[in-house]
Amino acid sequence: MSLPTTSKVFILKRSIDDSGVKASGPDSHFTLTTQPVTLPSPETPNLILVQVLAISNDPSQILWIRGGAPDLPIVGEADPVKTYGIGRVLAVGKNVGKFKTGDLVFDLMVWAEYYTYEPTDRAYVVNGGRPLEFPLSTYLGILSTSGLTTYVGLKNVLEFKPGQSLIVSGAAGSVGHVVVQYAKNVLGASKVVAIAGSADKCAWLEKHGADEAVNYKSAEFTNELAEAVGPDGADAFFDNVAGRVYDAVLPNMKFHGKVALCGAISQYNSKGTYNADTHMVVLIRRLHVIGFTLWDHYDETPNFLKECTDAIKSGKIWIGEGTETVVDLRGKFEGIPKTWAGLFQGKNNGKLVSILAD
Ligand SMILES: NC(=O)c1ccc[n+]([C@@H]2O[C@H](COP(=O)([O-])OP(=O)(O)OC[C@H]3O[C@@H](n4cnc5c(N)ncnc54)[C@H](OP(=O)(O)O)[C@@H]3O)[C@@H](O)[C@H]2O)c1
Repeated sequence: MSLPTTSKVFILKRSIDDSGVKASGPDSHFTLTTQPVTLPSPETPNLILVQVLAISNDPSQILWIRGGAPDLPIVGEADPVKTYGIGRVLAVGKNVGKFKTGDLVFDLMVWAEYYTYEPTDRAYVVNGGRPLEFPLSTYLGILSTSGLTTYVGLKNVLEFKPGQSLIVSGAAGSVGHVVVQYAKNVLGASKVVAIAGSADKCAWLEKHGADEAVNYKSAEFTNELAEAVGPDGADAFFDNVAGRVYDAVLPNMKFHGKVALCGAISQYNSKGTYNADTHMVVLIRRLHVIGFTLWDHYDETPNFLKECTDAIKSGKIWIGEGTETVVDLRGKFEGIPKTWAGLFQGKNNGKLVSILAD
């Protein structure tokens, strides 16, 4: 195959403020460009060139665009838009020992057809270079950041033990449904209460690991949640959502219970307000509230990939309809921003993956 000379690349035209991406539509934030492809050369021996095959759509990208978290990736105006992706290696510089032509590599990439860059130290060859055992999208979903976030959130942050009970918000999303399955089927939770935004999503979660699932859009949400958790309260809470869902969960925690703050998706497109009542519930119940990011835990990747792959093969973690939402953008590269923006309307079940090429 001859190497490409140009690539379509989306760059950030205008940052996304607190009013969110929904208000103005994704096209007003991103510009589609065509750029020359740089090849690894004797002057750039640390670079690799990949064809981007699939990209992950993550709510966290909005934080990267806002630049609100200094040690996370930052996407400035006129920069290519960063994303997790899987690419096929087309060329390698002479100093690159870790990858060879033809490898499928997971790494931080950009919204581009072809990408020349220096691999991060988090990059790895998908499935250790062996033939894929699951669809490609699974290697961007459960067997990637969503699964790793689950793994470190439950094990390292919540120190979750068999027999404990758990509440999970954003439970039908990419991270949430893995948390439900992992807690119940791998770590032996006594009870998992899932929170999601529709009756269909709740029924799906109850089919795949949740003991109870509660719809936060129900007028009776607070009462239904209390009933689902029961009078003893929950030992742990894995929060992906923040805002009013978070406020509703805290009074259902046991004294000295643990809360892992994983994400705040309810706040990414509308600025939340500080809730002093919530603050008092944390205090009165002596809760341990711990924020975490995946970035501190990448060294867990090999352990996680082994444990999670075994769990899938043994049937403890189920993958199938709803664990990934796959959008085929082959030949439709311009559809990337709108697909990504769908995340904030709850359109996806499980991981939202865009396929760009075979
Ligand atoms: N700490 C880390 O290192 C790390 C790593 C990965 C992800 N995260 C964070 O974890 C969270 C989940 O990520 P993900 O990849 O699972 O996202 P996702 O696949 O988009 O799922 C998010 C879920 O939240 C629900 N949701 C959306 N808006 C909501 C709102 N206003 N109120 C309540 N629920 C809402 C959605 O559906 P329904 O509303 O229909 O239920 C969806 O199922 C995000 O906040 C993300 O930033 C953190």
